[in-house]
Amino acid sequence: MRIYKAKDYHDLSVKAAQIIAAQIVLKPDCVLGLATGSSPVGAYEKLAEWHKAGNLDFSEVTTVNLDEYRGIPRENEQSYDYFMRKHLFEKVNIDRSRTFLPDGMAPDGGQECLRYDEVVRRTGGIDLQLLGMGHNGHIGFNEPGSSFAKGTHCVDLTESTIRANRRFFSSEEEVPRQAFTMGIGTIMEAGKILLIVSGKEKAGMLNRALFGPVTPEVPASILQFHRDATVLADEEALSCCEPR
Ligand code: GLP
Repeated sequence: MRIYKAKDYHDLSVKAAQIIAAQIVLKPDCVLGLATGSSPVGAYEKLAEWHKAGNLDFSEVTTVNLDEYRGIPRENEQSYDYFMRKHLFEKVNIDRSRTFLPDGMAPDGGQECLRYDEVVRRTGGIDLQLLGMGHNGHIGFNEPGSSFAKGTHCVDLTESTIRANRRFFSSEEEVPRQAFTMGIGTIMEAGKILLIVSGKEKAGMLNRALFGPVTPEVPASILQFHRDATVLADEEALSCCEPR
């Protein structure tokens, strides 16, 4: 696992975007695994900027997103589908028929999980998976205690995730209680992983993820076992790290 320190969120965003752009330049028809949340917003902004300046071509790129809330239609502003369109897809020349997210409104949850696993499989495999980390160490929506082996599944969100994501909704009641997420098994199959973490409120958890025992209680700790994982974190997020 390589760990890079960024000065602050802006620096982190530029460096993350450079790694993603490098992947696209090296393999124009690559498969990107994408994430939502506040962590990747700055990186998506940079990618859009470089595309606008004529320096980055998304025309052959395929994307598969990590997760989607259950019970929220894609047109809704709170859906991750909407998030991706707003922050990236509508700002670059990506072919929308090659952008995939779980369908939060699928009537049969079990079927939807199987369908999404098949979508990911058909892409031929994720070249670069971008990840953020939740305050409780979750990746995607794989909450503490999730099996390391799972494919796409439907999860009950923990109280701490509901509280953390409340800032995007007008009240806590509106935060969905369930989500579809790619499993840790699928995430670990990606050729490369890029985890980005910002802010001092995640510092303690990042220390556990990078240097503590690998345990389902800290889902991000599994990344210690990935053959090509890069962690990009700002000074605040790395402030509790004590390599052992
Ligand atoms: C959400 C998403 C994750 C994301 C995490 C961190 O719950 N499902 O994919 O990485 O929370 O979000 P943020 O970057 O806003 O802290």
